[in-house]
Amino acid sequence: MGFFGLFDNKTKPMLGLDVSSTTVKLLELSRQGDSYRVENYAVRPLPPNVVVEKNINDVEAVAQVVKAVVQSSRSKLKDAAVAVAGSSVITKLIDMPGDLSEDAMELQISLEADQYIPYPLEEVAIDFDIQGPSAKNPEQVEVLLAACRRENVDIRSTMLELADLVPKVVDVEAYTLERAFALIQEQLEDQEEQVVAVVDIGATMTTLSVLVDGKTVYTREQLFGGRQLTEEIQRRYGLSAEEAGLAKKQGGLPDDYEPEVLEPFKEAVVQQVTRSLQFFFSSSQYNDVDHIVLAGGVASMTGLAGLIEEKLGTSATVANPFANMSISSRVNASALANDAPSLMIATGLALRSFE
Ligand SMILES: Nc1ncnc2c1ncn2[C@@H]1O[C@H](COP(=O)(O)OP(=O)(O)OP(=O)(O)O)[C@@H](O)[C@H]1O
Ligand SMILES: [Mg+2]
Repeated sequence: MGFFGLFDNKTKPMLGLDVSSTTVKLLELSRQGDSYRVENYAVRPLPPNVVVEKNINDVEAVAQVVKAVVQSSRSKLKDAAVAVAGSSVITKLIDMPGDLSEDAMELQISLEADQYIPYPLEEVAIDFDIQGPSAKNPEQVEVLLAACRRENVDIRSTMLELADLVPKVVDVEAYTLERAFALIQEQLEDQEEQVVAVVDIGATMTTLSVLVDGKTVYTREQLFGGRQLTEEIQRRYGLSAEEAGLAKKQGGLPDDYEPEVLEPFKEAVVQQVTRSLQFFFSSSQYNDVDHIVLAGGVASMTGLAGLIEEKLGTSATVANPFANMSISSRVNASALANDAPSLMIATGLALRSFE
């Protein structure tokens, strides 16, 4: 699905750009036959408060960082894919006559959309994707309708244009994650009928996505992330945010850091994961997951997967979308290896090049 009318159907390589609350992440992939290669990758921090809870507050400031990230990657690509947060998108499955042309279907959807969408239509961007024959009526097809406030889409296009890029795709984070998850699923042992929880723990947000057979059945966002640990390090040891962020990855903190700061934070992570899963169980037919995949920057923390396995009794791994990819010599492989779990969204966006 194109999402929000920007996709022109030609498969041409494009940059995946994940704009989060704290960073802009860029990824460029290429494909030879069945295998992918990381051609370019770069990450740059965003100034505080220009993006808050997935809302772009300062489009000029974000565009500047996007420009800088493209320059530092030295990618030549101009076409780009970005995403809006799943929580800003309403989706509905509807049945429509199977014999309509794409244009006729578009017209009919635009005429009927106000039944499904609780916003004034002139403020909404709509897109749709035919899923296949309807289960209820063989003459009908099931259509996935996605709607998002137009301003969420427009501000992302504007941001790319201000950065001298061409907006080709505005996708939805949940779908990007699903696309990247296909690469993780290949690495799991039992692949069929698997109920897998992907927990993305970023700087400020934790997103639980549950996938059954690779399809998202549930997502939920919570305000929790690595920033809490950074702030605790700042407070305790009198460091700047930047120093604390580095110390977190590289070490060199006083002896009491591990027992008094790091361990309690890890316990808090375990608690968050437990709580998010309980929310999922209580609102679904499921009462168990087969596997947990940890994503987001916090997943790079040593020993976290092991701790979650031990406390929850469910097998857990750290997401690495690049496990089966080759890596260009231009790319800093060890930095990519550390950042891999936080690049799921960027990967799903870069993969749009090949659809
Ligand atoms: N090796 C590491 N050990 C511990 N924490 C790490 C490591 N690498 C990254 N982090 C932390 O991960 C967080 C960033 O993760 P990520 O890049 O997924 O967040 P984000 O996508 O920018 O934020 P959000 O999703 O909340 O908008 C930061 O708090 C960072 O300090
Ligand atoms: Mg994130």
